[in-house]
Amino acid sequence: MTKAVSGFSKLSKEEKVQWIAEHHFSNPEQAVAVLKKYWNSDAELQKLHDEFIENTISNFYLPLGVAPNFLINGKNYTIPMAIEESSVVAAASKAAKFWAHRGGFKTTVLGTEKIGQVHFMFPGSFETLHAFFTSITPKLYSETESITKNMQKRGGGILDIELRDKTSELENYYQLHATFETKDSMGANFINSCLEQFAKTLKEEAQKYTAFSDEEKNIQIIMSILSNFVPNCLVRAEVSCPVAELKEDKNISQEEFAEKFVRAVQIAEIEPYRAVTHNKGIMNGIDAVIIASGNDFRAVEAGIHAFASRNGKYTSLSHAKVENGIFTFWMEIPLALGTVGGLTTLHPLVKASLEMLGNPTAEELMQIVAVAGLAQNFAALRSLTTTGIQQGHMKMHLMNILNQFKATEEEKKQVIKYFEKNTVSHSGVVDYLESLRN
Ligand code: MEV
Repeated sequence: MTKAVSGFSKLSKEEKVQWIAEHHFSNPEQAVAVLKKYWNSDAELQKLHDEFIENTISNFYLPLGVAPNFLINGKNYTIPMAIEESSVVAAASKAAKFWAHRGGFKTTVLGTEKIGQVHFMFPGSFETLHAFFTSITPKLYSETESITKNMQKRGGGILDIELRDKTSELENYYQLHATFETKDSMGANFINSCLEQFAKTLKEEAQKYTAFSDEEKNIQIIMSILSNFVPNCLVRAEVSCPVAELKEDKNISQEEFAEKFVRAVQIAEIEPYRAVTHNKGIMNGIDAVIIASGNDFRAVEAGIHAFASRNGKYTSLSHAKVENGIFTFWMEIPLALGTVGGLTTLHPLVKASLEMLGNPTAEELMQIVAVAGLAQNFAALRSLTTTGIQQGHMKMHLMNILNQFKATEEEKKQVIKYFEKNTVSHSGVVDYLESLRN
C-alpha cells in the first residue's frame, strides 16, 4: 500500500506525475508516457485546462460528435454532443431525421425560476420569527443591492424571499426560501452570494431585534446554498404526427408500432426498475449536450431525477399517447442552464459548441437539450419495441472491439463486411478476427 503524501498540491505538475507513476504503477515509465501523451502541445491551452481544477496531471478526452438535422420550432440545428457511449450520436441523428420529416420538435419554456435557501435554527415560535422577518425583508433586498445591480440590468434578480417553518420535521429548523431569475447565466454564484448576504443580514438584525429574547437573538445559520431541485425552471418538448405516418420498420405496422411504443412508455410510468433505465436513455442525450455546452451535468442529473420522483415514486420523464389517430410523445423536464459565465467563454470547445448552436440564450439551450433527450428516448424505444437494442448497439460496439484487439485497417474492413450479414457478439468478433489472423 502507498503511504500518504503531504504537500502534494505544492508539487509541480511534472513532480506530481512522477510521484504518481512511482507510487501507483508497476511500469512508471509507461505510466508517465500515457499521461503525457494527452498533454496539449499548445502550452497556453494546456495551462487553461490545468487551471480548471487542482492537481491536474493530464487531460481526459471525450469524443465531441454532432447530430445534424434537428428541426426545433421550425429552425434547423446541428447539436454538439460530448459522450463516450457508442450509438448515442447515431441514434440522435436518426431520430432527428425521422422527426424533421414529420414537422420537427415543438418546445416551450414553462418557467425559468431558480431556488436557493438559507437553512437556520431558531429556538422560538414561527409567529415571533415571522414578525421579525417582515421587519427585515426590505433590508434583505437593500443589503444585496451591490450583488443584484448587474443582474437587474439584465432583467433578473431576486423574485421572492419566503420564511418557511420546517419545525414539524426538525426541531427549531426554519428556512429563507428564495426564488431568483438569472437570465442567461446558470446563476450559481449569484444565488449563493445573495444567500450568504441574507444569512449575514438575518444574523446581524436578530441581534438588534428587541422583541427577541437573548436566546432568540442567537439565530444559528447552518448553511446557505442554491437548490438543484428546480421544478419551476421547466421546459417541454414534443413531437407528434398521424399514426399513419409512423411507418419506418418493414416488420411492424405503424398501428402496432404506436401501440407498443405507448405501452413501453406506460411501463416506465408505473415500474421504477424500467423508469430508471428509460430515463437513463433520456440522460444520454441530455448529458452529452450539457457537457458540450459547458454546463454542470451533476446539477442537471440531480435535479431531473428528483423531479422524476416528485410525487413520491420514481417514474418516467416522458409520456406518449395516441388520440384520434395522432401519435404524441412529450416530456417536461427541469433544466437550470447557462450560456454566459462559467466555462462558456473559457473552454474553446464549449465556445465552439455554443456558436454551432447559434449562440443560444439559456432558454433556447433548455429547449435544445430537452429535444436531445426526447430524441434519444424515441430512438431507444423505437429499437427496443422493434428490432431490439443489441442490433444497433453491437454494430457500433464492433469498432470498440476491433480497436481493443488492435485490428489493422484491412482486418477492420473484412470484419465489418462479415458482420453485415452476421449477428455481432463480442466472442463472435474475437473468433472471426482470430480466424483471419490464423
Ligand atoms: C442505453 O444507454 C440506454 C437504453 O438502455 C435506454 C432504454 O432502455 O430506454 C437503451
